[in-house]
Amino acid sequence: MMLLAVSLFLLLVSSSLGAPLSGPLMRTRNKLLLISFDGFRWDYDRDVDTPNLDAMALDGVKATYVTPPFLTITSPVHFTLLTGRYIENHGVIHNMWFNTTTQEKKQYYMAQFVDEYWDNGSLPIWITAQRQGLKTGSLHFPGTAATYQGEKVQVSQVEARFYDHSNETEWRMNIDKVVGTWFAEQDLDFVSLYFGEPDETGHEYGPDTPERREMVKQVDRTVGYIRTAVQKHGLTDHLNIIITADHGMSTVLKKGLVNEIILSKIPGFSFRDIKFHLIDYGPTGLMLPKEGMLDKVYNALKGGHPNLRVYKKEDMPERLHYSKHPRLLPLILMADPGYVINGLFPVQSSKGEHGYDNQVMDMKPFFRAVGPDFHKNLLVGPFETVSVYPLMCHLLGITPEIHDGSLDDTRHMLVSSKGTGTDEETQDSVRANVFIALAAVAGFLVVVGMVVTAHSTYKRRKDSVKSKEDIFDDKKETSTQTSF
Ligand SMILES: *[C@@H]1O[C@H](CO)[C@@H](O)[C@H](O)[C@H]1NC(C)=O
Ligand SMILES: *[C@@H]1O[C@H](CO)[C@@H](O)[C@H](O)[C@H]1NC(C)=O
Ligand SMILES: *[C@@H]1O[C@H](CO)[C@@H](O)[C@H](O)[C@H]1NC(C)=O
Ligand SMILES: [Zn+2]
Repeated sequence: MMLLAVSLFLLLVSSSLGAPLSGPLMRTRNKLLLISFDGFRWDYDRDVDTPNLDAMALDGVKATYVTPPFLTITSPVHFTLLTGRYIENHGVIHNMWFNTTTQEKKQYYMAQFVDEYWDNGSLPIWITAQRQGLKTGSLHFPGTAATYQGEKVQVSQVEARFYDHSNETEWRMNIDKVVGTWFAEQDLDFVSLYFGEPDETGHEYGPDTPERREMVKQVDRTVGYIRTAVQKHGLTDHLNIIITADHGMSTVLKKGLVNEIILSKIPGFSFRDIKFHLIDYGPTGLMLPKEGMLDKVYNALKGGHPNLRVYKKEDMPERLHYSKHPRLLPLILMADPGYVINGLFPVQSSKGEHGYDNQVMDMKPFFRAVGPDFHKNLLVGPFETVSVYPLMCHLLGITPEIHDGSLDDTRHMLVSSKGTGTDEETQDSVRANVFIALAAVAGFLVVVGMVVTAHSTYKRRKDSVKSKEDIFDDKKETSTQTSF
């Protein structure tokens, strides 16, 4: 009888302690590739044949669309992907860097090199991953050039000033570098990879044109090229791939046929009352009126055009999360879809624009994911792109920084949380296994107790209720010891 109990104990302990305890600790972490195709609107696959994107959806997860943070432009939204923070919280509030005192402005490209603009308290996932022992890289992704709290992404490539973002040969060379060299040879754990299309084509020709459809075919071929490269290097079972974008694109209503927004024509408004402004930049604008002029300017602009919305910074709708940062100027201007905001006269020639309210369907980008940790052939509902960050941290098994997203938005895309847990979850799972092991010990003691009880009952005909109490106490004490 005693021998049976001991064997049972050993069996329980070996099955609960042995395997699962070493499982989570020795788990293999899959690699992760985050790809952004700038300006790829959620529905761009509806009027073009996209065999490679379709194949990826069969092998993985497709979201109907995702919702970017406001302001829906490149640098701010990409930094949200990297940090999980709304724009008012990470501080990269515009593509342009500016100084309202000196009137200095830096366009998208030059602003990439202003460290203190990017390094405003939120750490991009590269730095967090590196601090937790992972190796990371980034190619052309906005924010790559900057230094954060003294650290940069370990492996990086920043494009030259007048880089041709549309060249498919260049795209393939970049993919070969990321997949063949960075992942396969240098064994990086995480890489972010950026393509400047179909944004540029969307601006130049408009989103509903043959030129944009042709560019979507190029993106689709590229997705095929990426997946073939991953296969060729034996990474298919070890690499998760997320493909998304910063924002969508909307057709600008034709000049002359609509009542264009031209601020200088609005009665009571004068640029003489303005100290600094950021307008003639698509559908939004930021303004700093001269001292004492805020209400005059605000009252003139408000109601000045039926398709123009003007907010005092603190009155911005809460849902836009574009109000709290000190870099935001006192007046924020937003145009309705199809309109752009002009200063003195119409200077903007883009046929497509983004930067509109993130509720506008045209502003929503696509989202796809494939790899060992993702379900196959799963279509999921929309979610906010602030939640891509916690998903990536979870996949990489790293502890995230404070962020505005939620893993609950994306958890259902994953095959299982086993083996891909964050440190916190891994600890939980170790704790659970220790608990199971100790429960087994307790179980063993119960068995021993029963054996002993039966034995003594048989021998001394002792009161069985008392024995049960003893057993219960034993168990309780053992359980208490497990909860450390
Ligand atoms: C703007 O320039 C002024 C004057 O040179 C300087 O004092 C201030 O720190 C600058 N602000 C930013 C945000 O760079
Ligand atoms: C972020 O930038 C603002 C304005 O430029 C500045 O006042 C603030 O100190 C910065 N915060 C951090 C943490 O760098
Ligand atoms: C595209 O890039 C390749 C490789 O850098 C270059 O050889 C080629 O001339 C480029 N094509 C165009 C049209 O610029
Ligand atoms: Zn753009």
